[in-house]
Amino acid sequence: MKLKLILTVLMVVSSTVTSDDYVRPQPRKTIHLPWDSKLSSFPQQVHVSLAGDKHMRVTWINDDKSAPSVVEYGKLSGRYDAISEGETTSYSYLLYSSGKIHHAVIGPLEDNSVYFYRCGGQGPELQLKTPPAQFPISFAVAGDLGQTGWTKSTLDHIEQCKYDVHLLPGDLSYADYLQNRWDTFGRLVQPLASARPWMVTQGNHEVEKIPLLKDGFVSYNSRWKMPFEESGSSSNLYYSFEVAGVHIIMLGSYADYNVYSNQYKWLKEDLSKVDRKKTPWLLALFHVPWYNSNKAHQGEGGDMMEAMEPLLYDARVDLVLAGHVHAYERSKRVYNGRLDPCGAVHITIGDGGNREGLAAEYITPQPMWSEFREASFGHGELKIVNSSHAFWSWHRNDDDEPVKSDDIWLTSLVNSGCVDQKTS
Ligand SMILES: [Fe+2]
Repeated sequence: MKLKLILTVLMVVSSTVTSDDYVRPQPRKTIHLPWDSKLSSFPQQVHVSLAGDKHMRVTWINDDKSAPSVVEYGKLSGRYDAISEGETTSYSYLLYSSGKIHHAVIGPLEDNSVYFYRCGGQGPELQLKTPPAQFPISFAVAGDLGQTGWTKSTLDHIEQCKYDVHLLPGDLSYADYLQNRWDTFGRLVQPLASARPWMVTQGNHEVEKIPLLKDGFVSYNSRWKMPFEESGSSSNLYYSFEVAGVHIIMLGSYADYNVYSNQYKWLKEDLSKVDRKKTPWLLALFHVPWYNSNKAHQGEGGDMMEAMEPLLYDARVDLVLAGHVHAYERSKRVYNGRLDPCGAVHITIGDGGNREGLAAEYITPQPMWSEFREASFGHGELKIVNSSHAFWSWHRNDDDEPVKSDDIWLTSLVNSGCVDQKTS
């Protein structure tokens, strides 16, 4: 009973970070996903992520401690001419014990190619497509997903669009301490996440820290291993990767970010290695937005912005994608609160569909830097056409139909002369 009370208090604290003085449209209910009663060694919750040049990491979970940690794969259905052995982990969390979590890196893989694969020597054959090596490349973007009817709607719309990589700026499952919700989330996203790489960073709902009992990010780090080692980072909470002429930095809003922190040092080092001839586009993702004119989470990103915005500006980051606020907002090019032709475009896209509903109230008047804002569920698509031009569009979940409601052509800062003007 005591445990239930503690959990309830923790859940309330975690889900009411904002003041609830705005009226949100009705959230949809959490989808009921019953536990699958197939064989215990049956692989489930399969998802893939990029893991260094021409490699991908396949992650899956089963309940059989003796099941092999192998991925068989090849370019023809049913004919696997390669096999990779993985590593395994598991964790316990209060009364919950996870299944066996497998991570296996496959490759080298050919670019822009379909591969057939099977996890653990059994289960269904799955398919994935590797990203292209050159432009054009397309990204799907949706944060704060959760696992409600709205999440399903968003995922259905993403499935309809042609994209190469999914970018998720934090808040995945909304498990909020109830660990079986990580399992149901894994099953909900498997059809998409097993077919295209999902690159994620953490949000507040991934923390799940219980003082004196549990460290933070136990579930997230065990289940959603990202290529931090491949990018010279010592933490799964921040890393970078490169794909088809784009360098993407995934930062941690819930890891230390002050100028003496490991994350800050890593970011500085990572930015110094970016070669804009090889990767003309430079993107950054993190959870808590720096430019937000919604009343929800107002000012929460201020400290991180103060510490890190000068680094991103100096490196001429083209585009910043954040979540956390359950709505959509796009800025003009901005730096230090002022319009700046060499600043980044900031987009808040925490509107994936979670159970907390929308953040519907905005500060008035609309700040100078804010170009478009709307509280609706939806997803974004970023098509980088070439080294100079990209097309961004935001698709609202109107009555379960995706409706393009905002779009803009972006010109890279390389092409705007900003990179050549850098002082350092
Ligand atoms: Fe959040």
